[in-house]
Amino acid sequence: MRLWGGRFDEGPDSRMADFTRSIEVDAELALDDLAGSIAHVRGLARAGLLTAEEAEALERGLAGLREDVVAGAIAWDPTLEDVHMNLETLLTERVGSLGGKLHTGRSRNDQVATDLRLWTRRSIALLDDGMLDLERSLVDLADREGDAILPGTTHIQPAQPVLFAHHLLAYVEMLERDRGRLADARRRLNVSPLGSGALAGAGYPLDRAATAADLGFDGPTANSLDATSDRDFVVEVLSAVALAMVHLSRFAEEITWWSNPRFGFVRVADAFSTGSSMMPNKKNPDPAELVRGRTAGVIGALAGMLTLIKGLPLAYQRDLQEDKPAFFGATRTLEASLAVMSGLVSTLVVSRERMRAAAEEGYTTATALADELVRRGVPFRAAHHIVGGLVGGAEAEGIPTLAGLPDEAFRAALDGSDDPVSRKLAHERGIASALRSAATVEGSLAAADVVGGTAPNRVAEALAAAKARLGIE
Ligand code: ARG
Repeated sequence: MRLWGGRFDEGPDSRMADFTRSIEVDAELALDDLAGSIAHVRGLARAGLLTAEEAEALERGLAGLREDVVAGAIAWDPTLEDVHMNLETLLTERVGSLGGKLHTGRSRNDQVATDLRLWTRRSIALLDDGMLDLERSLVDLADREGDAILPGTTHIQPAQPVLFAHHLLAYVEMLERDRGRLADARRRLNVSPLGSGALAGAGYPLDRAATAADLGFDGPTANSLDATSDRDFVVEVLSAVALAMVHLSRFAEEITWWSNPRFGFVRVADAFSTGSSMMPNKKNPDPAELVRGRTAGVIGALAGMLTLIKGLPLAYQRDLQEDKPAFFGATRTLEASLAVMSGLVSTLVVSRERMRAAAEEGYTTATALADELVRRGVPFRAAHHIVGGLVGGAEAEGIPTLAGLPDEAFRAALDGSDDPVSRKLAHERGIASALRSAATVEGSLAAADVVGGTAPNRVAEALAAAKARLGIE
């Protein structure tokens, strides 16, 4: 007979039992369930519903179960439906009929809501560690390859040179926001549903605030209907998790291109690569590809969770049992992705020469050259036009960089402009070499000297700030 079987004349059909069972998934909540039960026992004692001796015996029994869970010594009984029934049954086996008092003033509805909040809190702490670890790997790489120069792109076309460190620090910014989103979600979810009962509130004078404090919650939830049926904290965390995966997948995509020999900007360590079963030449950045690929499932988990809650009336509905599998899977995926990317990043070998050569391709210093003309009094539109002409000319002549143009090319372009300042500049002494130095990769980098820009001094500041924040010497 089931723990809830009093009003039933027959036992469950095996198809029904198999279909509704959740122990395979929610065994993951065992430690949280035991923590919640211990706090609940103390609350029952405070309310005079258990004697001190009874409470002590129950707590001892629960602590023993906790040891067994940690040791992996518990054989879950599938006929007992879920983790809550399993643990209550095991407790009763150990402490006798006293175990029957544990569920006083509690429903599995407020119980599972509490368990899941506790689990989510633990999981956020693990994800935060993983994010910090990846941030440290990115910052270390930025530090090690501080002056490597990357061809910055927009529309996947050559745009402007940027410091490789600047590019890596962009991901550090994303990860910091990801951490912030998880921390925000944690603040909101850190309240205790215990005492909400099945939906209406427990029928005993429980000190819910004391139980909440016992579990490290900031306080009790304010509405029993909401507390037992709300899963928006799962949506919040899942959306932060999905967004973090999306960030990782962007970086993963870049790794796959950069490691293609055509680019040759980086070499992924053998330890983070796989080979081909057929092609002996292959070395593939599979972890990066799988991070990118698994992002799909995590986005799906978020969409699934929103859809699960959509249209659910108050209060608890059994649908809510389906909140766990995808949520657990998604957080595990992010945790593993952070770890593998951290390893990949810290063993990445960078080819500065290849990056630097590519950074010059595509006349990437054109904007810096136009900016230099503006500094000399030329209106930006005229400067844009002049430099556009220089790019077209260089391309036609097969000259690969603007800095490689001869003096006459600069003078002729200025002289041919309908802007009078440009025409005057055309005859200034030393103008060609001044423009040429603005049009070097170094000149271009140095010019982006604003807060958040890629000028080496700005990147050095940003790197120092990141290192200080992360406690890197
Ligand atoms: N396994 C259930 C869940 O995860 C526990 C709560 C079940 N409550 C109930 N009244 N059947 O949601």
